[in-house]
Amino acid sequence: MTILEARALAKSFGPVTAVHEVGLEIGPGEIVGLLGPNGAGKSTTLHMLLGLITPDSGSIRMFDLELDRHRTEVLSRINFAASYVDLPGVLQVREVLDVFARLYGVRDPRSRVGELIELLDLGPLRRRRVMELSSGQRTRVQLAKALVNEPSLLILDEPTANLDPDAGDRIRNLLVRLSEESGRAMLITSHNMQEVERMCDRIHFMSAGRIVASGSAAELADVYGAESLEEVFLKVARS
Ligand SMILES: Nc1ncnc2c1ncn2[C@@H]1O[C@H](COP(=O)(O)OP(=O)(O)OP(=O)(O)O)[C@@H](O)[C@H]1O
Ligand SMILES: [Mg+2]
Repeated sequence: MTILEARALAKSFGPVTAVHEVGLEIGPGEIVGLLGPNGAGKSTTLHMLLGLITPDSGSIRMFDLELDRHRTEVLSRINFAASYVDLPGVLQVREVLDVFARLYGVRDPRSRVGELIELLDLGPLRRRRVMELSSGQRTRVQLAKALVNEPSLLILDEPTANLDPDAGDRIRNLLVRLSEESGRAMLITSHNMQEVERMCDRIHFMSAGRIVASGSAAELADVYGAESLEEVFLKVARS
């Protein structure tokens, strides 16, 4: 079974072509990275896959189902985290997770929330209101929320952007472990090239709405005669 198959996605906002002819495939347990300069079309691509915005053209299938026609089923099996998504700030961390567990119809919400609090080291924060948290702390709550329904596909828009190096490292290890142990597939965007090198099985570079290069970090470095993914990024972005 393919987890995700998107073909020829396109989206314009007025005169701006945000995404043009983008195709993506993700298999079980794969971690795929979407890289590219600011404004390249990464978040717009993710938002189409999440059904948050409607593509102008192209098709999206997940779990062999068309997103258009099986929206509820598909969306119940994926999840999303991004720092720009607001969580209900007046609620405590454990309450937020409980609300989302119930929204997704998790069988035993109490124990799932307990597991997530453990997994993301949220124990000391569980009774704190979300609006009082630092941005890095909130990022961990976002990730816990994104795991609440044990998604087969996790879509993460810059998941570690607000985290300190230690917290970022822990989260990367956790995500890699989740993909290895439970076959969870992930599509992530990031501006942290070491993170992408460490986590992603495959990478797509976007520039001005198009995918301009694809491959593993090593393959891309080879093709571009670069020492690191950072160098590949600079070469692609400036060419
Ligand atoms: N709702 C919108 N209305 C108008 N233009 C938009 C909208 N959303 C995105 N765009 C435009 O589409 C283009 C792609 O934006 P997008 O957010 O997908 O980029 P990105 O690759 O995620 O960039 P970043 O690395 O800065 O997050 C940009 O030119 C942006 O200004
Ligand atoms: Mg973005």
